[in-house]
Amino acid sequence: MRENVKMLEFPQRGDDRGHLVIVEGLQDVPFEIKRIFYIYGSDSDIVRGQHANRRSEFVLINVAGKSKVKVKDGKGNEAIFSLNRPHTGIYLPKMIWKDMYDFSEDSVLLCLSSEHYDGSEYIRDYNEYVKEVAKGDVHE
Ligand code: TYD
Repeated sequence: MRENVKMLEFPQRGDDRGHLVIVEGLQDVPFEIKRIFYIYGSDSDIVRGQHANRRSEFVLINVAGKSKVKVKDGKGNEAIFSLNRPHTGIYLPKMIWKDMYDFSEDSVLLCLSSEHYDGSEYIRDYNEYVKEVAKGDVHE
C-alpha cells in the first residue's frame, strides 16, 4: 500500500543538557535514507520546490525556524502544512507536487530523501505532472 502525505513525530531524548531528536531510516521515516540536504537563507517571499519526483520520497523537518509546505496530488486535492517544530516532519511520497514557502529568517529546512540525486526524476512542469499522474492511474 502506498503511504500518504502525513506528519511524523520523532522520538525525543532531551534532558537537562538540552534537546536531542532521533530520526532513523526505516524506523522513524518509512524509507532508507540515501541523501540529506538542507535549505536556509531563503527570503520570506521565495517559493522553492515547485516540482514532483517520480521516484524520491522525502521527509522535511524545520530543525530551526519555520516554513510552510503546500502539497498537491495532481487530481485537484491540496493541503498546507506548517513546519515549526524540530521534532516533527512531513512525509512526502513520490509523485506529490510540493511548494515550500513562508521561510522565517532563521529557517533551516532539513530534507531526507530515499534516493540519490537524479535530475531526470524531477518533474518541474505542472501540466506534465498532471498528465503523468493521470497516466499512472490507468496502469495502477
Ligand atoms: P532545487 O531542486 O531547485 O531546490 P528546491 O527543491 O529547494 O527548490 O535544487 C537547486 C539546485 O541544486 C538544482 O540545480 C539541483 C541541485 N541539487 C543537487 O545537485 N542535488 C540535490 O540533492 C538537490 C536537492 C539539488
